[in-house]
Amino acid sequence: MSQALYRKWRPRLWDQVVGQDHVVQTLQNAIRSERVGHAYLFAGPRGTGKTTTARLLAKAVNCLAESPAERPCDRCEHCQAVNNGRFLDLIEIDAASNTSVDDVRDLRDKINFAPTQGKYKVYIIDEVHMLSTAAFNALLKTLEEPPPHAIFILATTEIHKIPATVLSRCQRHEFRRIPVRLIVQHLQHLCRQEHVDVDEETLTLIARQATGSLRDAISLLDQLASTGAPIRLADAQQVLGTAASQSVIELVDALLERDAANGLSTIHAALDGGSDPRQFARQVVDYCRNLLLVRMGNGELIEATPEQQAQMTNHARRFTTQTLLETIQAFNAAAADQRSAWQPALPLEMALAQLVSEPTPASQSEPVHSVEPAVVNVPLPVKTEKAHKTPASKEETSTQPAGEPSASDAPAEQQLGVVPAQAGQADDDQPDQPESGSATQLQTILENWQKIRQRVKTQSSPVDGLLNSCKSVTMRNGVLQLGFGSEVLKTMMEKGNNLKITRKAIQDVLGVEVQIACVVVQGKGSNLQLDGDIEADGMVSTALRLGGKIVHKE
Ligand SMILES: Nc1ncnc2c1ncn2[C@@H]1O[C@H](COP(=O)(O)OP(=O)(O)OP(=O)(O)O)[C@@H](O)[C@H]1O
Ligand SMILES: [Mg+2]
Ligand SMILES: [Zn+2]
Repeated sequence: MSQALYRKWRPRLWDQVVGQDHVVQTLQNAIRSERVGHAYLFAGPRGTGKTTTARLLAKAVNCLAESPAERPCDRCEHCQAVNNGRFLDLIEIDAASNTSVDDVRDLRDKINFAPTQGKYKVYIIDEVHMLSTAAFNALLKTLEEPPPHAIFILATTEIHKIPATVLSRCQRHEFRRIPVRLIVQHLQHLCRQEHVDVDEETLTLIARQATGSLRDAISLLDQLASTGAPIRLADAQQVLGTAASQSVIELVDALLERDAANGLSTIHAALDGGSDPRQFARQVVDYCRNLLLVRMGNGELIEATPEQQAQMTNHARRFTTQTLLETIQAFNAAAADQRSAWQPALPLEMALAQLVSEPTPASQSEPVHSVEPAVVNVPLPVKTEKAHKTPASKEETSTQPAGEPSASDAPAEQQLGVVPAQAGQADDDQPDQPESGSATQLQTILENWQKIRQRVKTQSSPVDGLLNSCKSVTMRNGVLQLGFGSEVLKTMMEKGNNLKITRKAIQDVLGVEVQIACVVVQGKGSNLQLDGDIEADGMVSTALRLGGKIVHKE
């Protein structure tokens, strides 16, 4: 197996270290003036060059080059030995796996032996924050009176875990996250040497994804280059899981339009395309957080291409701060939701439903959001329907019949698609067995479900979106019951005119008036077990969404 790129490209000379000039300068000066300290602490995020710099220092103090200014030379015997991991006086200890006090004592005992090969024995203790308190105390003794031939370099990503007593005995150097611009430059250089064909936009994507860690950036590049084919943005997006970013933008569009149907299909398309639901939720949160920064005038803080900046500015202008906060909250909850493994899309659907179903007080008072007169008056060919949705519709409270508390006890056969052929079947211990009339009525409704939804959609896409996430449609005591996967969705549906709109649509399409109630269908979608070999997970709604027809089961 070929060597990982990031190892192959570990800097061997001071000037190859990227983005840590403040550290390199100081250390180089110390080497030049031959005033090297005995204890260093390198702190900073992962993959920013701590171990690399520690090795450079170890090389420099033992380099055989005549002039101190040229150390490390990378050519002499000692430099070469360090490069190849054969230098006996460089001892690297991973504190993560040698945390005990004995390990440190062992080190302390050995430290008094003079260097075998070089001038200095250099101890690099990586992840030093992992040491136990006892081990720290033992280390402290050594740090207090190090033998003249010993140099300690402690490295950590978590400086707050290092005892003050240790901190005070070390020369401290803070490593910084490496800016996107420098990472891109470095990757470009590396790609030229490695003959990797990749454009700057793709490298920028990689660099952003690496969040300041050069190692992560190189690893990502390595991963993408492994096929040997030219790397294109689309491939990179695919591999890095950011293909979803377009979906995120579409979802945000849908939120701004309060277009539940579009929002839901965006979510489902992203998940069908392989996005992880929680990761997708996090991306929405990240994006909205950026919008928040733009709104607060801190847009320059965001690492993004000019196109993305423009896109974000546009989105940010159309949101209110309040709505953005609500959006972040809702999708943050979706990202944290661990319970919906059986219905992976549900947390995202809930977040969406929550946000589109009801105008927030903020959006009512601030016209920037959904009630822009421009949107209402300009007859856009596609989006005119949204003009119907005004906050005023919220005024009317529901006059619908109260739903039964829960449908979890509803007979499974009554579920969508598995309506029992006729009454008179067994199971007459069920007090509320559907009468034959309502079974027929339910069947008619199911057969015309698409038409009904289209009708609903002309009145309100959010309501249609809610119907889309409806998991079951049943009839009980003459009342049409819409089953939702959660209390949140159920409550959404019960709000405002939503039920009225639905009832009206049914009346328009079928000429009958039915009462509607919303219920929560619980459990592992057990109510939706349509057939031995059909999974519950929103299958019916998915099928319906795709234009599927309900076929009566024998
Ligand atoms: N500042 C940098 N300049 C050049 N290359 C770097 C830099 N930082 C990291 N790298 C690249 O990443 C690899 C790993 O870096 P290094 O081991 O020094 O990181 P680290 O800060 O010690 O990370 P960790 O905290 O995970 O141990 C290097 O081999 C090099 O290829
Ligand atoms: Mg390291
Ligand atoms: Zn040398």
